[in-house]
Amino acid sequence: MPEMLTIALSKGRILEQTLPLLRPLGIEPLEDPERSRNLVLPTTDPAVRLIIVRATDVPTYVAGGGADVGVAGKDVLMEQGGHGLYEPIDLGIARCRLMVAGHPDASLEGRRLRVATKFVNITRRHFAGKGRQVDLIKLYGSMELAPLVGLADVIVDLVDTGNTLRANGLEPLEQIADISSRLVVNKASMKLRHREIKPLLGRIADVVARRD
Ligand code: ADP
Ligand code: PRP
Ligand code: MG
Repeated sequence: MPEMLTIALSKGRILEQTLPLLRPLGIEPLEDPERSRNLVLPTTDPAVRLIIVRATDVPTYVAGGGADVGVAGKDVLMEQGGHGLYEPIDLGIARCRLMVAGHPDASLEGRRLRVATKFVNITRRHFAGKGRQVDLIKLYGSMELAPLVGLADVIVDLVDTGNTLRANGLEPLEQIADISSRLVVNKASMKLRHREIKPLLGRIADVVARRD
């Protein structure tokens, strides 16, 4: 039997929104990925399996050959650099915006800003591009809290409905990028397993195009 094709996904919105793209291809997990403790899930296609990893680990698994294909947010790819990966399809799922946010009266001008974020590379680049040096405060979540308690002047975070910002008395101040999730492919797999991967990409691109 030829080797299995491995697809890396993360629990939550990426899994929820990717499964409907795979279903028309006859690829459905044999057990509920949100409930199962298994990290390797066989699918209705005996040649395809899913692996469940953290969203920020998808590029690492795919670039390192732990998976042939994966789905990763553009924010994660921008932050990590996307080295060793092809990024052939914008899946148009998990759409949001990467924004600078803060108190309505927060000024981006003037003195040196303290910026709390988990996206330190994107943030440094964004402000450097405007000729501004900032003090970066690396957080791993709940960024919206930082300005409330005076840890930072502003944050850089993902915004969709804006509900999280509003609930914490913050506002979007400046957009950095439009975000959606991308199909990523291991470079060696693209070459060595072209006969399996090319049609898979074509069929996924068709499903995505039919949705638009
Ligand atoms: P994590 O546990 O890393 O936060 P998520 O499932 O929340 O994992 O995020 C995965 C990806 O989904 C992110 O990299 C981003 O591209 C996108 N995303 C995150 N938050 C939102 C949101 N509120 N609305 C839409 N897309 C989002
Ligand atoms: C994400 C993001 C924001 C929120 C924005 O958090 O980090 O906090 O969504 O969405 P909104 O504009 O619609 O409120 P998520 O729901 O992924 O929670 P997390 O902290 O577990 O990542
Ligand atoms: Mg999240």
